[in-house]
Amino acid sequence: METSRKLIIANWKMNMAYKNGCEFLEKFENADLYSSDILFLPSSLHIQAMLEKYSNLKFGSQDLTYLDQKQGSFTGEISASMLNELGVRYAMCGHSERRGFFKETNKIVYAKAKNALDANITPIICVGENMKSKLLGRTKSALKSQLKACVPETNKKIIVAYEPLWAIGAGEFPPADYLEYICSYLKEQVQILAKNSMLVYGGSVDAKAAKWTSKQDYLDGVLVGGASLKFNEFIKIVKSYD
Ligand code: PGA
Repeated sequence: METSRKLIIANWKMNMAYKNGCEFLEKFENADLYSSDILFLPSSLHIQAMLEKYSNLKFGSQDLTYLDQKQGSFTGEISASMLNELGVRYAMCGHSERRGFFKETNKIVYAKAKNALDANITPIICVGENMKSKLLGRTKSALKSQLKACVPETNKKIIVAYEPLWAIGAGEFPPADYLEYICSYLKEQVQILAKNSMLVYGGSVDAKAAKWTSKQDYLDGVLVGGASLKFNEFIKIVKSYD
C-alpha cells in the first residue's frame, strides 16, 4: 500500500452474514472503480474465505489478542501470528466499541498494537475524545494521553484512526474547523511516535462527508462504519476519492 494513496476502511463490525458479505464484495469487485486503497474489515469468521475468494481486494481484522502469546489456552482469542499466517496485513486496535463494551484500556490497546507490529501487521489504532472532554475543551489533552499510552514508538507503518466518540453512529459530523484543528495536532503528535504513519477520520462518514474529507490534506482517508454496509452509499464514498 503506497502512502500517497488515500485509504478507505470499511468496518463491518458484527454485521454482514457470509452470504451477504460475498454478494457485496462480488458487486464491488465488478465495479472496478478504485484508485484509493480500500480495506474491508469483515467478521473474523469470514476473513480467510474472503481473502481466498477475492484476491483483488484487501482484508483486515477488527481485532486481535493483547496477550503476548502466539498460541495457548486462551479461549476465543486470535493471535497476530495466526492472522499473519492467513495473509492478513492490517488489524484494528482499540475501537471505541471495544473500549466501551469490553472495557479495553489504553494498556490493552498498546499491547494489541505491539503484537500486530511484531507480526508485521499494520495496526489501525483508534483514538477519540468523548463528549465530556469536548465540552470541557479538553480534546487535545485527552488525545495526547491516549496517543502516548496506545501508540508504540516504531519505524514500521501505523494507521491512527481519529474517531470522536460523540460522532460514531450518531449522524453527527464534526465542524470543518474543529476537524482541521484537531487533526493537524494529531498528525504532528503521531509523527513523533511513528514517522511512517497515516491519519484517517471515522465517525458518521457518509457520501457527503467523504467528498469533503477527500479534499483535506491533513487526512489520509476515512474509516466507515454504517455507510460501508450500504452498497450504493459505499460506492459513492469510494468514488469521491477517485
Ligand atoms: P459510523 O461508525 O461510520 O457508523 O459512525 C464508525 C466506526 O465505528 O468506526
